[in-house]
Amino acid sequence: MRQPMVAGNWKMNATRWEAENLVRAIKEAEPDPSAVEILVCPPFTAIDAVARVLKGSPIRYGAQNLFWEKNGAYTGEISGEMLRDLGCRYVILGHSERRQIFGESDQDVARKYAAAKRSGLIPVLCVGETEEQRSQGITEQVVSAQLQAILQQTDAATFHGTVIAYEPVWAIGTGLTATPDQAQEVHAFLRAELHAFDSGVGASTRILYGGSVKAENAAEIFSRPDIDGGLIGGASLKAEEFLRICAAAA
Ligand code: G3H
Repeated sequence: MRQPMVAGNWKMNATRWEAENLVRAIKEAEPDPSAVEILVCPPFTAIDAVARVLKGSPIRYGAQNLFWEKNGAYTGEISGEMLRDLGCRYVILGHSERRQIFGESDQDVARKYAAAKRSGLIPVLCVGETEEQRSQGITEQVVSAQLQAILQQTDAATFHGTVIAYEPVWAIGTGLTATPDQAQEVHAFLRAELHAFDSGVGASTRILYGGSVKAENAAEIFSRPDIDGGLIGGASLKAEEFLRICAAAA
């Protein structure tokens, strides 16, 4: 009942020209939209260029962050309303790079989540533990706190459609991937938390895995029952490899 999804987080990569070429190559491969939902999240500066290429395509595009106010004196920030104006459907929130490098707290992410819903964007909410937290045996407490910060301020009807991405911080960009069993264990835990919140939400929410997913390891990771696809960083910048990952999720 859950449609697989593969999302590319391009992070701070790609000029407009590079973004157009990358997304055109993905579009021209005509991946089957009924088998897997594909999302690309370029940097803000390339969203409009990507939107033009994707006009009429079932491939979705979104942003990597937003600020919670609608408009005003917030130098350097971008609102959810501005992203909707560009036609974005999704927004990544709470990525570990935002949490670690830019100091975003669970409360900040919750405010951004509310702003995304207000403006009609679908959040891709990232959760995940650091290497130190895993070695301390507190992975479940960490991801639970990150998820509960959102669940406590919302209801099932509002939460519906939200995508969760589990990304162990120690696996991001390091080449170290969680084993499929390690990932499945945390995904099952997150699904149980969602189920306790609302059984329909538990059954229908897509939980993506992220962290050094490549064409070679994608199929095995995606084969686990609670893993509904992937949030891909480095490998989403190469059209051919990204398409192979999409095919592995279908
Ligand atoms: O958002 C994507 C993740 O941070 C994963 O990045 O695939 O380069 O490890 P990666």
